[in-house]
Amino acid sequence: MLEMQGVTAGYDGVPVLRDVSVNVGRGELVGLLGANNAGKSTLINVISGTVPIMSGRLMFDGADISKTSAQDRVELGLVQVPEGRLVFPQMSVRENLLLGGYNRKARPDRSANMDHVVSLFPRLGERLGQLAGTLSGGEQQMVAIGRGLMAGARVLMLDEPSLGLSPLFVQFIFEIIDKLHAEGMTILLVEQNLSLTVRHADRCYVLERGVVAVEGASAAVAEDPRTRAAYLGM
Ligand SMILES: Nc1ncnc2c1ncn2[C@@H]1O[C@H](COP(=O)(O)OP(=O)(O)OP(=O)(O)O)[C@@H](O)[C@H]1O
Ligand SMILES: [Mg+2]
Repeated sequence: MLEMQGVTAGYDGVPVLRDVSVNVGRGELVGLLGANNAGKSTLINVISGTVPIMSGRLMFDGADISKTSAQDRVELGLVQVPEGRLVFPQMSVRENLLLGGYNRKARPDRSANMDHVVSLFPRLGERLGQLAGTLSGGEQQMVAIGRGLMAGARVLMLDEPSLGLSPLFVQFIFEIIDKLHAEGMTILLVEQNLSLTVRHADRCYVLERGVVAVEGASAAVAEDPRTRAAYLGM
């Protein structure tokens, strides 16, 4: 469904990702692992279209979208839930969610998508009128995921959704990811948490300083000594 082919990309002409090939099949849950600064967020920003490709290409549903604008990629259903949640603290939960659903494609489905979000996150349903800035980190992560679903995601890219959350919330967020996966959502999950990710993902990639160091079925990636080395920078 989504195919990054030999992509080199970075900032101000300096490559961060080098010749990276990653693919995500329809309905798959793919984990993208790696240490700090490995290039994980850069990779999903390349898919979102906020970091330009220097060489290589990006295919979606069989079409080359390397030059498609970031806005148009959202319309295609490529939706990112950014690192650090980035909810609008002075707006209510409802307003944050509705903001996700303003693109052309998703607008007609806003009420159905809202029902879906509230059924996944009953806690948000009880707090729709509350300012998002007053929520806990875990609840803000729910808002960020909910906002992504409101946008009509066909591929949901989650950037470190468990970062900084209490163990109970981490467990809950992974249960939600499993549920979305079971509903058929295609998911690219960026994480530093190796053991949790390999337990939930179908396949994983490990990025090490901008290159794919290991890839394969989750269990094989977990056992591969190069995976640990990538984390320890050995
Ligand atoms: N906007 C930017 N301008 C210049 N360099 C950047 C920018 N964003 C990231 N970088 C650099 O690109 C490299 C990869 O960063 P990136 O944020 O993609 O890593 P990451 O794997 O997501 O790390 P983390 O786990 O800390 O979120 C780093 O060396 C970083 O300094
Ligand atoms: Mg990051």
